[in-house]
Amino acid sequence: MNRKTTGSMLLALIAMTLGATAFAQQGPFGPRGNAPAAQLTGPVNGTMTVNMNDKLKISDTMFGIFFEDINYGADGGLYAELVANRDFECTPADARGWSAKKFWSLEGSGLTFDIATDDPIHANNPHYGVLTVDTVGPRLVNEGFGGFRYDKGAKYDFSMFARQQGDKPVKIEVGLLSDTGKVLGSGTVEVKSKTWEKVSLVLTASDGNSTEDACGKFYLKPLDSGTAAVDMVSLFPQDTFMGRKNGLRKDLAQTLADLKPQFVRFPGGCVAHGNSWQDDCYYWKDSVGSLEERKPIKNRWGYHQTRGLGYFEYMQFCEDIGAYALPIITVGVDCQFAGRQQAVPMDQMDRIVQDALDLVEFANGSTDTKWGGLRAKMGHPKPFGLKYIGLGNEEQITDAFEVRFKMVNDALVAKYPDIVVVGTVGPGASGGDYDRGWKFARQEKLPIVDEHFYMNPNWFVDSAQHRYDNYDRNGTKVYAGEYAAHAQGNPRPNTIETALDEAIFLTGVERNGDVVVMSSYAPLLGKHGNMQWTPNMIYFSNTKIDKTTTYEVQKLFGANAGTNYLKNTLSFGNALNQRQALRVAASAVQTKDGKTVLKYVNTLNVPVSISVTLDNAANVPDSAESTVLTGPSFTGKDYKLTTGSIKIGKTFTVELPAYSMTVISFK
Ligand code: AHR
Repeated sequence: MNRKTTGSMLLALIAMTLGATAFAQQGPFGPRGNAPAAQLTGPVNGTMTVNMNDKLKISDTMFGIFFEDINYGADGGLYAELVANRDFECTPADARGWSAKKFWSLEGSGLTFDIATDDPIHANNPHYGVLTVDTVGPRLVNEGFGGFRYDKGAKYDFSMFARQQGDKPVKIEVGLLSDTGKVLGSGTVEVKSKTWEKVSLVLTASDGNSTEDACGKFYLKPLDSGTAAVDMVSLFPQDTFMGRKNGLRKDLAQTLADLKPQFVRFPGGCVAHGNSWQDDCYYWKDSVGSLEERKPIKNRWGYHQTRGLGYFEYMQFCEDIGAYALPIITVGVDCQFAGRQQAVPMDQMDRIVQDALDLVEFANGSTDTKWGGLRAKMGHPKPFGLKYIGLGNEEQITDAFEVRFKMVNDALVAKYPDIVVVGTVGPGASGGDYDRGWKFARQEKLPIVDEHFYMNPNWFVDSAQHRYDNYDRNGTKVYAGEYAAHAQGNPRPNTIETALDEAIFLTGVERNGDVVVMSSYAPLLGKHGNMQWTPNMIYFSNTKIDKTTTYEVQKLFGANAGTNYLKNTLSFGNALNQRQALRVAASAVQTKDGKTVLKYVNTLNVPVSISVTLDNAANVPDSAESTVLTGPSFTGKDYKLTTGSIKIGKTFTVELPAYSMTVISFK
């Protein structure tokens, strides 16, 4: 579970210390962090006036996604590689009990499986497997990331580096195994080179196991006695997202693309700096180039990162889905949840500064530069058009942090004035790091800073929805970079309540589009059975994807992102008291394709009827599309999406069911 104390836990602790336990636990709207108890008895009427001429610009980066390799989000998740520990680089540092043999096992006797390190393919990838065969028959089996999913008729690209270790070549059969151990496809490669050589073939699955638990396996079976060394043993479905080699799992990537994210933040989160700059910090240069040259490292969340999904693949994905890339890089200061702050010694900061500058060259430089040349060699001569770079991720804001941040930021601004730097103001919605981070950001005239808040659901309604109304309109802008409503429970649940409270917050974000220029919910992905953190936006296994209500809310905002906010007023007269009124929210935007979109969120237990007037409207059509997201229980996870149309005009009425989000759109 999380290593940090969430905002809601902190509030509860403070309240208990002050002897206010009753309020902390119950509060006027029910248990803090779970459903409001206010029960209204009849429908409520309200009015909304939208001024179609009074507009506020909204940035084209308002709704993005936060991608981090947490909960097996990358290896075993979005990254389509099926073989686990393909590089034999797992170590006990990744997780207790892990070793270079993790996920591999022998079936049968007469075959020896050793790990060796002399003369590896590359210094960054020092371990490899050695198969010594006495008796032909046994096989080395990989269990994958919780099994292999095979689809009937699908083609799989197998490849590995291999070297003949003895005095004769060794043929190796490779094959796909069904859940019950049946061979679904196989082929043979010959290991006959005395130096490392890449061997490959395509396997076709004669049957699928994708409707079952998908606990298939993959094997290597030597067919001759002798000794062969193997490394980078890889199996990819050919059918990846956009057909990319070394690509992304198609269904998961498509689920992300469907959110229509305007940017993708990567590689974290805490993964961006790891627990230690000397150990598991994500230096981007180690994640590019050919796969066997990349440096695998332990994942800060307790497993192994191959970094097959590296900076090139992240940027490629951004380009494929029409999103800006937002890489977050270290400024040489450790994660504040590592228990102590350590920083790169000042006499080694050159490397950190150079990494930042070289990242821009890698993304945007011409092909005759060192890093632009590598990008071209990797298959993308055209620049990626990187515009944003995040420096740091919720570090403790100290002298050590500020001096290092300034070194990296100053160098970036001097060399690449068009790059927009996103700073950080710590892990909380308020507090020491927040205050000092903001002061520092203003002093350094940073364009944007990244705010984080994991708080109880009611906080999103009572505080966050109007959080930005009073922020300074000039100067540093906000990236609400990690947020999620955390309801009580273990695991913390995704419910109608959490999603709708986040939706209420997002109406406030749109209204404050002159202050908030980016936002992303976190974390994005959680693999069933492999979670270090809840809640997440999307859950998945090897065969299925479970979208949450939060996902649907994010999609409704992403697909209906505005370029202009239309000023409006929403009022309930005396029908609701102040706190009840906070539980109904609305926003109005115009989109880039000329639509007007009205979004409504009702978290009351009764329907709400809103009389809408479109002031200064010309040519309003007779009807509009409507989408309604609702669920049978406020605290349940089940939801229903209904699309249809409603009659509109310059004045019309929209009915909001209890516990719902409604989107009305028309041209
Ligand atoms: O989103 C999960 C974690 O929460 C992120 O890695 C980190 O930035 C935050 O503490």
